[in-house]
Amino acid sequence: MQKTFSIIKPDAVKRNLIGHINQMIESSDLKILASKKIYLTKNQAEIFYEVHKDKPFFSSLVEYMTSGPVQVQVLEGENSVARYRKIMGATNPAEAEDGTIRKLYAESIEANSVHGSDSEENAKIEINFFFSGLELA
Ligand code: CMP
Repeated sequence: MQKTFSIIKPDAVKRNLIGHINQMIESSDLKILASKKIYLTKNQAEIFYEVHKDKPFFSSLVEYMTSGPVQVQVLEGENSVARYRKIMGATNPAEAEDGTIRKLYAESIEANSVHGSDSEENAKIEINFFFSGLELA
């Protein structure tokens, strides 16, 4: 069993899509191990997306990610990192496959409704950033 980290982003939370997205996650046989709604601070968003700090979209991304609450989640299942990325679809919704979360719900390449870890190593780092061991027991 592998864990991955997911964020349901402000655009999706604002449009009441948490339930719809989680239904897609659960019906794909991924278990939602932990889930909580939080407001990211500017500092937290900057740390989380530090890898993108030199990209032209960085400050806009931080502003967007702090524009409203997000639902942070730990998902578990066989090969969950790759499987959740498939369910999410491409970063740019214009390139996302039919039936994926981003094809169905994303508003733009920035407001793309969900985040998912891109590797098992990053999943561990991202999970530890948002959740304590107690919350995952
Ligand atoms: P995410 O998968 O969370 O990783 C980085 C985020 O930056 C991405 O989803 C988008 O929300 C945002 N973003 C904004 N513009 C771009 C872009 N041109 N390319 C990639 N990501 C972008």
